[in-house]
Amino acid sequence: AEIVIVDNPEDGGELVARHIAAQIRARPEFTLGVATGSTPLPVYAALRRECDAGLDVSSVNAFALDEYVGLPDDHPESYRSVIRREVTEPLGLDPTRVHVPDGDEATIETAGERYEALLAANGGVDLQLLGIGTDGHVGFNEPGSSLASATRIKTLTAQTRADNARFFDSPEQVPTHCITQGIGTILRADHLVLLAFGDGKADAVAGAVEGPVTASVPGSCIQLHRHVTVVVDEPAASRLE
Ligand code: F6R
Repeated sequence: AEIVIVDNPEDGGELVARHIAAQIRARPEFTLGVATGSTPLPVYAALRRECDAGLDVSSVNAFALDEYVGLPDDHPESYRSVIRREVTEPLGLDPTRVHVPDGDEATIETAGERYEALLAANGGVDLQLLGIGTDGHVGFNEPGSSLASATRIKTLTAQTRADNARFFDSPEQVPTHCITQGIGTILRADHLVLLAFGDGKADAVAGAVEGPVTASVPGSCIQLHRHVTVVVDEPAASRLE
């Protein structure tokens, strides 16, 4: 992987957004893989500045990595809502071109297959933005996830539920299950851009970049991909050799 150490998350966001904007100018039907959580927010903020400066994103497609199972669609913390609020609306993307896995409990059994079919029909993802969990997860592929996995339902670990409790009124309200692109799905994107900021991510970054490739650290899957860029600040890079 190419490792880029930036001074702060804002600079990381600028760098990645500038690259994405150039790709969109070259090919307006670009497909961006989007992540939720705090890490990619500076990328979206910088992309918004590109849009305000005239970047045409009307033909851009976007696919989210994951979704909670069982939250009502209009719940403010459903990833459908989060992506709408943080990506689709501020950037002015065409909402019909923005896709999030379907976390509706009633149809969850077929949701993974449907999402894979949608991805395939679209021709896949050109650039996938990734954050990483403190336990090494990518998407919601928790430790132990098969490196060949497809989009499917998963149980969230206690660690991830605790990490994400900040978005809910109380920790018990964090859903117990999610639907997530599999590691096999993520690895089919043409270019992976993993971002991580802060010393809380240092172990996960070291494991992903330099540790053995193992299902115990799902982020280590990036070592199986030929085009990976890791964008980190000094604290997140501090345990790299
Ligand atoms: C979110 C996702 C997760 C997060 C990870 C880090 O769509 O797939 O893997 O990227 O939990 O979250 P933050 O960025 O909030 O530290």
